[in-house]
Amino acid sequence: MRFDVITLFPDIFVPFLEQGVNRRAFESQIMQVKLWNLRDYALGQYKRVDDRPYGGGAGMVMMAEPLFQCLSAIRQERGEERLECPLIFFTPTGQRLNHQLVQTWDTKRGAILLCGRYEGVDQRFIDLYVDLMISMGDFVLSGGEIPAMAFLDAIARLQPGVLNSDESHQFDSFHENLDGLLDCPHFTRPEIWQGRGVPTELMSGHHENIQNWRKQQSLIVTKQHRPELLGNSEGRSIPSKSKELKK
Ligand SMILES: C[S@@+](CC[C@H](N)C(=O)[O-])C[C@H]1O[C@@H](n2cnc3c(N)ncnc32)[C@H](O)[C@@H]1O
Repeated sequence: MRFDVITLFPDIFVPFLEQGVNRRAFESQIMQVKLWNLRDYALGQYKRVDDRPYGGGAGMVMMAEPLFQCLSAIRQERGEERLECPLIFFTPTGQRLNHQLVQTWDTKRGAILLCGRYEGVDQRFIDLYVDLMISMGDFVLSGGEIPAMAFLDAIARLQPGVLNSDESHQFDSFHENLDGLLDCPHFTRPEIWQGRGVPTELMSGHHENIQNWRKQQSLIVTKQHRPELLGNSEGRSIPSKSKELKK
């Protein structure tokens, strides 16, 4: 699975690609990431990649032509048709990134990721060449690099051989093993910390009781923090303990 990233700040990605779980994914080539510095496709003597907005107003706009040149170079190197490898633009205008999108991506052949900067990208480039727009949420970041890294990270950890145990992600929030609900609370040593103990079910050594406790807690946590997700687990009863939870 190969990802090509178009950015004005490729250095931002270097520590991300070299640390922890991500490093395992990218060094082992389970996922390949190639960084493309948009500045290399800048125009004219002054190496421009942005210009003032038509109509006036604050900020600069990323120009269409350097983006087109960079995209053409990537497509040529990949030797693939557009349909095989979509261009994703990270923008607040896009659809919200979620588990479903991340999970379905692992069967596809990677993507080209466009990180915006300044006020954004010339709309004509978006209209002609962008296949999918993805948002991180209803807030504005300074650039698309953090969204691109979030996207890559979320996909990387689902790939076989990336996490220490391939099972670990199968009990994370939103996974179908949890019916799309949130993860249960976790505890580790010491047994007593600041006067607080650990739920007795987890100390019982009884596998089935532990599993039941985790499922119940997953429902309770979801009801408390994201009740709208409970639609995903129709037919399952909410444990009575949830009534005790503060709203
Ligand atoms: C300062 S923002 C531009 C925001 C744009 N003028 C707007 O209001 O939608 C610069 C770049 O950061 C990225 N960005 C900012 N917020 C984002 C978000 N919530 N999700 C995805 N990308 C975002 C986009 O690539 C965007 O082009």
